[in-house]
Amino acid sequence: FGSATLAGLRVLVSAGPTYEDIDPVRFIGNRSSGRMGFAVAEAAAAAGAQVTLVAGPVSLPTPAGVARRVDVRSAAKMREAVLAASDTADIYIGAAAVGDYRPAQVAERKLKKHDGAPLVLDLAENPDILKDLAATHPHPFLVGFAAETHDVAAYAQDKLSRKGLDMIAANRVGAGLGFEADDNALSLYWPGGSEELPRASKRELAARLVQCVGMRYRAAKP
Ligand code: C5P
Repeated sequence: FGSATLAGLRVLVSAGPTYEDIDPVRFIGNRSSGRMGFAVAEAAAAAGAQVTLVAGPVSLPTPAGVARRVDVRSAAKMREAVLAASDTADIYIGAAAVGDYRPAQVAERKLKKHDGAPLVLDLAENPDILKDLAATHPHPFLVGFAAETHDVAAYAQDKLSRKGLDMIAANRVGAGLGFEADDNALSLYWPGGSEELPRASKRELAARLVQCVGMRYRAAKP
């Protein structure tokens, strides 16, 4: 690798989970480690891009070559940071596992138990960052991720068209792949084409993904 496929391009990457606070000590999160997104940011920088990384709560060092990192916690803050940086981005790669729901109210005090009575949490749907970006004009070349446990191709292609994306990278989660795993395998789809990136380390896959993104970007915006 080391080829400068993304030379002169500004790439915005989101990575990691989001945490949605319930009260001052509890939150709803997910098992995304951020490793895939951080590897994508590193690979994009190695391919010559100027990279901004918006990171959810992860314990990972900023990858070599990444120009700017913005740390956020909730989906709402991630959306703000991504929208603020998207004006100056040519490509957005949404690798973050954004929480779909958040507690409708964040309790100011720690919630207490109530003698065995069930606790009911009202959840509000979070905005879809990718969809919102796709609705702004002009907007960067949009690459989404889809983590699925089954029917990967069908769900990914549906997401590609429903969210108005230029490319989607789909992976099967579970069985030693995906979340919290070292290895991953990706199926890439774009309007009118696809490519399989077979099982490899997240670093290696990220480098291949970035090469494909560069090629599709040039093909879509000559
Ligand atoms: O629909 P689903 O959550 O599976 O789609 C995953 C893709 O959408 C990822 O690229 C993720 O970063 C993005 N997404 C988003 N905002 C959300 C939910 C998902 O940008 N609220």
